[in-house]
Amino acid sequence: AATVTAAAASGGAPHLLLICFPGQGHVNPMLRLAKRIAAKGLVVTFSSTSAIGAKLVESSGVSVGGDGVPLGGGRIRFEFLEDGFDGSDLDELMRHLGTAGPAAFAELLARQEAAGRPVACVVGNPFIPWAVDVAAAAGIPSAVLWVQSCAVFSLYYHRVHGLVEFPPEDDLDARLTLPGLPAMSVTDVPSFLLPSNPYMSLTEAIQQQIRTIDKATWVFVNSFTELERGVVDALRGVATPPPPPLIPVGPLIELEGDAAVRGDMIRAASDCVGWLDEHPPRSVVYASLGSVVVLSAGEVAEMAHGLASTGRPFLWVVRPDSRALLPEGFLDAVAGRGMVVPWSPQEQVLVHPAVACFLTHCGWNSTLETVAAGVPVVAFPQWGDQCTDAMFLVDELGMGVRLRAPLRRGAVRDAVDAAVAGPDAGAMRSSAAAWSAAARAAVAAGGSSDRHVEAFVEEVKTRAA
Ligand code: UDX
Repeated sequence: AATVTAAAASGGAPHLLLICFPGQGHVNPMLRLAKRIAAKGLVVTFSSTSAIGAKLVESSGVSVGGDGVPLGGGRIRFEFLEDGFDGSDLDELMRHLGTAGPAAFAELLARQEAAGRPVACVVGNPFIPWAVDVAAAAGIPSAVLWVQSCAVFSLYYHRVHGLVEFPPEDDLDARLTLPGLPAMSVTDVPSFLLPSNPYMSLTEAIQQQIRTIDKATWVFVNSFTELERGVVDALRGVATPPPPPLIPVGPLIELEGDAAVRGDMIRAASDCVGWLDEHPPRSVVYASLGSVVVLSAGEVAEMAHGLASTGRPFLWVVRPDSRALLPEGFLDAVAGRGMVVPWSPQEQVLVHPAVACFLTHCGWNSTLETVAAGVPVVAFPQWGDQCTDAMFLVDELGMGVRLRAPLRRGAVRDAVDAAVAGPDAGAMRSSAAAWSAAARAAVAAGGSSDRHVEAFVEEVKTRAA
């Protein structure tokens, strides 16, 4: 009965409530999924913590409450938890989410009901294991979006259920084999699963979600069938306990008409694209390590001198929290050739013809964005799933080269040279172009991921009718 009211109260279109873990690497894919669903005719409310809400209002100009923005046949709107937490410590955040999150989310659900906008389906993400339970207690079905790769899902799944032994962390020669995946060294598996991992609260939240993931009716994944078919098929063969079928809906990239709603938590520099316009095709090195990786002062200096020593123009994202680490006089020394910005409109940058390669930390969003744009990489992973993603980009897709720690300026220069002009650069570009075409086809009308979103939307509509 609740779902019947849901459809009726929003003028016939069922209302979905998304709840997103407070991090840029989660906001982007969740928001892009929200857009894909809204474009197919549903009303979608995007939510996260109050602190994320404040940042999205400030940096991306989103407006809270109201009817939201029309998108395709539906609408997208924003409303946030009233959880009152604005700290930055990860362990404190995880504790806070665990204790205050469920009640704040239940209140947000009740707020929708009271406003005549009852929720037909909740869409959560795996770092918030309690969202599915809160929805179930209110009689509402759930979907979750796994924001990392199917390969990483498989690694977590096998580990959490004790289906695989990882080699000892100091045995770099040992290899781990899992169905559908290449043989991996311990440096290729998500570092959150290794004994040395310092982020235990995060690991516990992920493991908890993996244990309870079958509570969700739909398990979406930000990937596409053609990219990870082997591992998706192999997961179907795992008998005990059987994993839920993964439903690829990616790559969750910005599509035409999407740009009106963005989820940047730092305001993107507006002059990047104009600056790129002044450069010839395939001349610029784009460097960015995403929203959370922090380099030491020494590493920032090596990166700075390394980029400068390539002799190529470069666009480098140095977030405001690291700006003070730039070597003295560096900006003046590279003026005209190097542009350093606090945040870029990354997807617009990657599809710009002037970009020659992407020096990336291989967060899964950056990985998929560079695959979709067809840009070769210099892979410089730091932790978590980035290690697996780097292996995937370099060894599986043949789209680039690795840059290994400890970071040295000469190695930065050599890696950029190899990716742009080395003997294998042409093959990397061809591989990147082929994967770009496949990625775009998956999300185009009638593509594999588009059909998966369509089927979900139809099912929600049918249940709510
Ligand atoms: C985090 C984890 O680090 C990552 O490993 C995991 O897969 C997702 O969560 P993050 O480190 O921020 O994410 O990296 P990434 O997944 O690449 O996401 C960053 C997002 O910010 C991308 O969508 C990228 O386009 C965007 N971005 C980054 C910008 O728009 N501008 C920038 O200047 C930098």
